[in-house]
Amino acid sequence: MTASISSENIFKMCPCAGDKTYGESPLELINYYESLPKNRYGDLLRIMAIPYLYHATEAINDSATDAIEAYSKAVTDLLSYVKTTDVSGLKSILELAQGSDEFEQLEEQVETHTGQHYGNLFKGFSDHSYFNEAKELLKTRLERNGIEIENLKNKTVLDQGCGGGRYTVAWSLLGAKECTGVDLSDIGLEDATKRVEAAKIKNVSFVKSTVLNLPFEDDTFDIVYSNGVLHHTTDWKLGIAEQIRVLKPGGFGWQYLIENPGGIQWDSIEILRVITRNVNKNFARTVMKLLGIPANRIFFMLDHVMVPINDRLTPMEIENELILNGAKNIKRLERGADFDGIEKIYNKIPFAEQKFGVGENRFIFTK
Ligand SMILES: C[S@@+](CC[C@H](N)C(=O)[O-])C[C@H]1O[C@@H](n2cnc3c(N)ncnc32)[C@H](O)[C@@H]1O
Repeated sequence: MTASISSENIFKMCPCAGDKTYGESPLELINYYESLPKNRYGDLLRIMAIPYLYHATEAINDSATDAIEAYSKAVTDLLSYVKTTDVSGLKSILELAQGSDEFEQLEEQVETHTGQHYGNLFKGFSDHSYFNEAKELLKTRLERNGIEIENLKNKTVLDQGCGGGRYTVAWSLLGAKECTGVDLSDIGLEDATKRVEAAKIKNVSFVKSTVLNLPFEDDTFDIVYSNGVLHHTTDWKLGIAEQIRVLKPGGFGWQYLIENPGGIQWDSIEILRVITRNVNKNFARTVMKLLGIPANRIFFMLDHVMVPINDRLTPMEIENELILNGAKNIKRLERGADFDGIEKIYNKIPFAEQKFGVGENRFIFTK
């Protein structure tokens, strides 16, 4: 049995339910899901809200209509949909998913819990997503922002919070000399090691450690890259201090942290975080697989929805912290890959701010 949630905690986890950006619809939706039984039927309905809201949000993001109006309607539509679901049709999915929720032994410790969550998601990546997509994303984000790293073939890279190591490998494929990935996730590191060995990549290695106390001397690496990690830790500020500590003077830092405000994209994630907060993650992954959703989409959808800590930060908060720790030449990137919010803001798509807030916080700097 799971405890119900107070309105105060709903508003803390999901400010848009309290500030009425979308009227009453988010709170009504959350309250309806709260009233559903806390069993596998109830959880199946909660999981089905994830692709529903993701697809709705993406459709709005691709349209030219007022995003706030359209999103309020999408939330109301989801409520009608869930109220009228014919649960008898869900029996076969439940039968096929049977057993998937019995093996989850999530550790109490937040880091281990987060590591297991991501390790399991990364494991599902195809070789194409793992090797090609990550390299292309990194390359595009560097090129579109005019970032040229001179003499990359002589540079050492640390990937702070590498997960399954896709970007550690991407740096190697782009030509870096030696690339080290650090993460706490046993599942992620095991998968990373297997993939690198199978691909016979020699200049990539992995170390198990917290990113909040890196096992390296000061001034060790030419590049310290951190992509979407510190907002899931207990102390993102300490993570920035560690990043800069191990960076060589003159070295290049990259820090990506999620944004506040974040538009309907992040409001949607926060609604889903409340609704699915007690749902078994293995069960969620299995159900989404049974629904025919590809692994990289499952990763994309469950990434922030099911992770214990998901702190969103304003550009100013991050910049201040970088300055405080001695970073120089700080620049917030204005461009990204095609699907990045920041790229859509750059291209001035209609209602970009309603959709993406300030866009991804990707900072580069030197030490
Ligand atoms: C969203 S994933 C990002 C992984 C990778 N940077 C990428 O972009 O593919 C977040 C990663 O942070 C790791 N993580 C979270 N807290 C950590 C900590 N305190 N120390 C080390 N790794 C941590 C998780 O295990 C997970 O692999």
